[in-house]
Amino acid sequence: MSKTAILEFDGNKYEFPVIVGSENEAAIDIDKLRALTGAITLDPGYKNSGSCKSDITFLDGEEGILRYRGYAIEDLAEKGNFLEISYLVIFGELPTKTQLTQFETDIRKYTLVNEEMKNIIDGFPKTAHPMGVLSALTSALTAFNPKVVNVENDAEMYEAICKTMGKFLVIATWTYRKMMGYPLNYYDNTIGYVENFMQLMFKLPTGPYASNPVVVDALDKLFILHADHEQNCSTSTVRIVGSSHAGLFASISAGVSALWGPLHGGANQAVLEMLEAIQKDGGDSAKYMAKAKDKDDPFRLMGFGHRVYKNFDPRARIIKKAADEVLKNLGVDDPILRIAKELEEAALVDDYFVSRKLYPNVDFYSGIIYRALGIPTDMFTVMFAIGRLPGWIAQWKEMRINKEPIGRPRQIYTGYPLRDFVSMDKR
Ligand code: CMC
Repeated sequence: MSKTAILEFDGNKYEFPVIVGSENEAAIDIDKLRALTGAITLDPGYKNSGSCKSDITFLDGEEGILRYRGYAIEDLAEKGNFLEISYLVIFGELPTKTQLTQFETDIRKYTLVNEEMKNIIDGFPKTAHPMGVLSALTSALTAFNPKVVNVENDAEMYEAICKTMGKFLVIATWTYRKMMGYPLNYYDNTIGYVENFMQLMFKLPTGPYASNPVVVDALDKLFILHADHEQNCSTSTVRIVGSSHAGLFASISAGVSALWGPLHGGANQAVLEMLEAIQKDGGDSAKYMAKAKDKDDPFRLMGFGHRVYKNFDPRARIIKKAADEVLKNLGVDDPILRIAKELEEAALVDDYFVSRKLYPNVDFYSGIIYRALGIPTDMFTVMFAIGRLPGWIAQWKEMRINKEPIGRPRQIYTGYPLRDFVSMDKR
């Protein structure tokens, strides 16, 4: 028998259906709440609200579990490559060899970005943050690709997905080239997607470029770990913007802006800046632990805590191990890694962090790897965006295919009741 929930309100009893997910998560379906009772729910930050049903990602924050389409993140990071996992996230199944080769070939058809986009980039100052530039350029892609995609047409949808995967990577690296004052590079259809990222970023016209396979492997893993994370701030943004039937580029551009904030993807840049500041200040991690716990001090230990994980973020575990391996492989001895480990060790036994279930999140160690790979701090959140792209695409597609209604929350108004207009001379 299916479960229901009973609500008593204003002397009346109402019964609501309970929806149970494939991992036994329960949700009270309040679709008819306002129609039946006249009341709404109030849930700032949506801490208790599910916005959709989704087949893409399963996350159990209490147990520290993350799975894409049913596959454990640990397996995917170890055995998959980024395009393969992107295919899985977007289309629901691991690709066959033929499907994967086709996907890669089809993405390559769209890796040229309209030359006029360069005029737009030229308009930005070199000091502009790459995330702001990326959001603007992604939105600008709409102008050069104005066709409205019929989401019910598989071929049109597939083309839009390949276009987005191809062009976004290129413009993401162009934000860095602009910052550095380097000429913009083109995608090289003879090498892989992640290898292309390195070449697009670092190849100079003055000489050849050969990417280091250790670096390419590490990036592949990092992109996989970021590929989706169910209804986080940027993904919810992509879904809600897309729910008005805005296009894929416009929705993803909004997702980039949402990701930029330091409480979300921007935390990876904030972590590294924090670790550098601690190092400059003599490397006294205890002092910064005390600051993080002081309620009168706005300082937070960046890279710690998560809205959903109340246990170790499984991605942080994998990244920590990868950071050790990559730094060893590249022969880098970074004092910042020592500070990060000291902070982590202290936090894991500190009552403040333990009682609030604050553990390292995905951003705590990723910046250390990016730094070892020669990626500048300002680009860290762009790296997150490249990794998250398949997730945004998959969630946008799912939302449109499921014909979800426009996202439009309600509110409880707490302002003035009706007032008479006061003329200027009486104010
Ligand atoms: N350092 C010190 N105290 C913290 C921290 C932190 N990093 N995070 C949470 N707290 C405290 C917070 O002050 C509060 O204490 P109290 O109950 O005494 O008021 C308690 O823990 C609960 O925090 P909250 O802000 O209510 O929790 P939230 O779920 O709203 O916020 C968070 C989650 C990720 C925004 C927050 O933990 C944070 O600001 N962390 C640092 C930024 C960060 O690393 N963000 C990346 C998140 S993972 C990548 C991603 O998915 O974007």
